[in-house]
Amino acid sequence: MNQNSERVIIFDTTLRDGEQCPGATLNIDEKLAIAKQLARLGVDIIEAGFAFASPGDFEAVSRIARTVGKADGPTICSLARARKDDIKVAADAIAPAAKGRIHTFIATSDIHLQYKLRKSREEVIATAEEMVAYAKSFTDDVEFSPEDAGRSDPEFLYQVLEKAIAAGATTVNIPDTVGYTTPSEFGALIKGIKDNVPNIDQAIISVHGHNDLGLAVANFLEAVKNGARQLECTINGIGERAGNAALEELVMGLYVRKQYFNPFLGRAPESEEPLTNIDTRQIYKTSRLVSNLTGMLVQPNKAIVGTNAFAHESGIHQDGVLKNKLTYEIMDAQSIGLTDNQIVLGKHSGRNAFRTRLGELGYDLTDNELNKAFIRFKDVADKKKEISDWDLEAIVNDEIQQAPDLFRLDLVQVSCGCNSKPTATVSLYTPEGEELTDAAIGTGPVDAVYEAINRVVNVPNKLIEFSVQSVTAGIDAIGEVTIRLKHEDRVFSGRSANTDIIVASAQAYVNALNRLYSYLVNQQKQEKVTLRA
Ligand code: KIV
Ligand code: ZN
Repeated sequence: MNQNSERVIIFDTTLRDGEQCPGATLNIDEKLAIAKQLARLGVDIIEAGFAFASPGDFEAVSRIARTVGKADGPTICSLARARKDDIKVAADAIAPAAKGRIHTFIATSDIHLQYKLRKSREEVIATAEEMVAYAKSFTDDVEFSPEDAGRSDPEFLYQVLEKAIAAGATTVNIPDTVGYTTPSEFGALIKGIKDNVPNIDQAIISVHGHNDLGLAVANFLEAVKNGARQLECTINGIGERAGNAALEELVMGLYVRKQYFNPFLGRAPESEEPLTNIDTRQIYKTSRLVSNLTGMLVQPNKAIVGTNAFAHESGIHQDGVLKNKLTYEIMDAQSIGLTDNQIVLGKHSGRNAFRTRLGELGYDLTDNELNKAFIRFKDVADKKKEISDWDLEAIVNDEIQQAPDLFRLDLVQVSCGCNSKPTATVSLYTPEGEELTDAAIGTGPVDAVYEAINRVVNVPNKLIEFSVQSVTAGIDAIGEVTIRLKHEDRVFSGRSANTDIIVASAQAYVNALNRLYSYLVNQQKQEKVTLRA
């Protein structure tokens, strides 16, 4: 596909740039679950990680390459700095994929050259050329990014890109690394590249951008109008600082305004040909999965996937929608896979019905995951008469969520109420299998539970976010608790769903502590780990 390609290529970087936001750290099984869902969503390329960053990152990229990178699946990509050791590790990690890409980058703005790289422009050009050629010795599919392109001298950028393409780059990606440009500037930058890089017809122009000024999606759409054919984005727009351009906003922008964008891709305005390969009905589910596993909540008014995105509150709007949806709706909730939250199962539903409905919802669980989820389902169905699709989703996401099973919650008991001191007793199994019980008083029942858990686990941390949301309406609804805690300068998240929100709160906290604990073990910070002794 060349840069005048008939459609827009979607490059998802949720697992690389998205995972770079504080607290979004995912373990390998969670990354794999997201990668599988991204494949169902229909993304063209999954940037699965930065393989050189750690053995865990390498393992994640390599497992995704092996499991999701099938011939009919997405291309699997690893990021690599413009260094031989980085590129070699990236090449090894993507090797199991049927289609693998190495994405190598070096900064090109004067600020980065002077203060970060301490390199001259000539040195940067030489490095880019040499490292693209080196990456090309491992795979035909090489992407090159001049980091901070948005603040680079365009004339210098043209030179770097020309050399990178001549050395074998098949995609040149233009990052607005600090989210600084405006739509007309970014569009002009892409046009300048098209007009001034002599061999640009041998590469696809891609764009990458951060949302510091809230302009990333607008910038990308302007870039498409000026010749960009690959968009680098993340689910729910997660990522470094204010995040990346949101996949769901870009895709639905191109979907809803197809007639407007068609001519920029050389098509007749009324052409029905989709502009991307994305199955838009998978968007909502992907958004929920990423939010659940990363612990990064989606704001209610978030475009496309926020809980209020399709809600009409004002009487005038409701009246209009009842008369004709077109009065106030530019897209159908079903187009992103938001179903009518049907009541589907109940206490007497069997394993087959459970498995069938999950299949219809697009979940593809292993036997082990299915067994665990079914036990949870029976437990919830005992307490809650009717189980809806959303309840099922909460149950399954809870089971897929693979917080390391180091500490296991066994018992939570609270006593609280008016004129009483909230008191909690908890029992946990330690990673060594010993059962420990402790009790504490708190300002409220959740605080008491957390204090008691802290007495057992004894890993210093500060709770920085606690949120509880109900999955459905009704007094018997499942409550989803998401928490984020901080240890030194790192953030860890935990999530759990239960009809009892105190139990969900305790489990979410244990999940986050397990992530923290496993991080400490991995870092071999023995002095912290032995604090419990
Ligand atoms: O923001 C950025 O510049 C990046 C590059 C590595 C593409 O993430
Ligand atoms: Zn980035």
